[in-house]
Amino acid sequence: MASTKKVKELQQRREEVLLGGGEKAIQKQVAMGKLTARERIVALLDEGSFNEYDLFVEHEARDFGMEQKVLHGDGVVTGTGSIGGKPICIYAQDFTVAGGSLGSMHARKITKIMDHSLKMRIPLIGINDSGGARIQEGVSSLAGYGEIFFRNTLASGVIPQISVILGPCAGGAVYSPALTDFVFVVDKISKMFITGPEVIKTVLGEEISMEELGGARVHSEITGNAHFFAETEAECFDQIKELLSYIPRSNSEPVEKIKVAEPDKKYSISRIVPADKKMPYDVRDVIRSVTDSSDFQEVQAKWAANIVIGFGRIDGKTVGFVANQPKVLAGVLDVDSSDKCGRFIRYCDAFNIPLVTLVDLPGYLPGVDQEHAGVIRHGAKVLYAYSEATVPKITVILRKAYGGGYIAMNSRHLRADFVFAWPDAEVAVMGPEGAANIIFRKEIAAADDPDKMRQQKVDEYIEKFANPYVAAAKGFIDSVIEPKETRSVLIHALGVSVNKSIGIPQKKHGIPPF
Ligand code: HXC
Repeated sequence: MASTKKVKELQQRREEVLLGGGEKAIQKQVAMGKLTARERIVALLDEGSFNEYDLFVEHEARDFGMEQKVLHGDGVVTGTGSIGGKPICIYAQDFTVAGGSLGSMHARKITKIMDHSLKMRIPLIGINDSGGARIQEGVSSLAGYGEIFFRNTLASGVIPQISVILGPCAGGAVYSPALTDFVFVVDKISKMFITGPEVIKTVLGEEISMEELGGARVHSEITGNAHFFAETEAECFDQIKELLSYIPRSNSEPVEKIKVAEPDKKYSISRIVPADKKMPYDVRDVIRSVTDSSDFQEVQAKWAANIVIGFGRIDGKTVGFVANQPKVLAGVLDVDSSDKCGRFIRYCDAFNIPLVTLVDLPGYLPGVDQEHAGVIRHGAKVLYAYSEATVPKITVILRKAYGGGYIAMNSRHLRADFVFAWPDAEVAVMGPEGAANIIFRKEIAAADDPDKMRQQKVDEYIEKFANPYVAAAKGFIDSVIEPKETRSVLIHALGVSVNKSIGIPQKKHGIPPF
């Protein structure tokens, strides 16, 4: 039995470390509207499940007077616990201790828990709140970041990696979140940038606030670096819990099946999509009309909103949805939406999550801006990601499927397992007006009444091509279905695809158009 004296000493040591950077620093943290590192962990994890390690780690800095400083836990809290009963590894940087700056021992604590999560094949959650590389430790802190980035890359596609930005995440530190699967940000609290306002002022003479440069809204709406935006830390933790309920613990485990409930009757699938091809609608209503309980967790909701991606369940099993959004830019594919869905498709494929693609788009966005921004290279990511994916891949063409958009959105030609189309679907090289203007240009110009002739040719084109039956006749579409049959058809198709097994040519890895 441990002696009472030794137990007391342990208790005292623990108490000291648990004070973090001390009362004053904690007050400063609270004044910024932030929880402390341990409070965050307690709020996120299942009650009483957290086990902390390396509490007594000490820093090794010996310059700039650091040798006299005590940095409790070296500014980072690490451990294991569970969320919704699922085991996880976690680290949370403690801003109250030297601004959560990353020195060599701080980095070693993080890499140790990262190694643990990879070995144990369980998700890793990193809460970032730090001034970046600890300046006094020089190259040792840079080395620490390098070790983290290497592990992020090694674990990519093996275990889920989640980054939560709850304070500054400055300089090279941003690259760990950027290498992970999902980045969560909170309004007014998260700040991410490579070069901060001070550097920008010195080098460029421009004044900008941290919020304008790299606040939560900037990364959710402009850069696409963040996947989930929350108003508060509590909302952010709920979002993480929801996400973990959809994804598996690792790439070698199936997602658990959750109890099934029918979609909410308020999403009446037959009435969501207008017959008029030019009328917009919200494709998320179509998604909610087929998912269990009409639940849908959207990813990157405010960035590249012309495509919708996210998770839902069908018959209790997680599905990754990719859907053109007709109410934003008519649902076109462009540089950002291609990046957005290409990466998501690869995520789902890596973690064995079947894909359901809902198609309604006029094609790729035309224009000099897009061409010069590299729409060829970025657009190719969609083709690559769908072609490469070996998970069950099901497509439903709701309305328009024109041109390259038809091919890119998980067509049969990229090896969709099942392609369904609603009766209003149009599969064609382009829309009827554009097509008639090109192929009947001479007849229209020579006619006594060009407008009448144009309309006649448009009608002819619609009659001939603007339907799903030409593609169905060639077997490119497997079945033309009524909208109300969609959920049951999806349940069936997903059910028969459970043991899907296909090979790919032997290779080290492909070379996707990054
Ligand atoms: C050492 C640091 C630190 C750092 C903050 N602190 N950042 N100590 N190294 N990088 C310390 C402060 O000295 C202070 O200590 C305490 O943390 C709290 O910091 P404050 O500045 O008082 O807090 P606040 O006003 O909230 O400002 C937060 C901040 C600011 C915006 C993050 O501290 C800041 O700009 N820090 C430097 C950011 C940066 O440029 N980092 C290096 C990036 S380069 P005391 O003792 O006074 O409480 C990089 C390279 C990595 O990271 C490359 C990898 C490839």
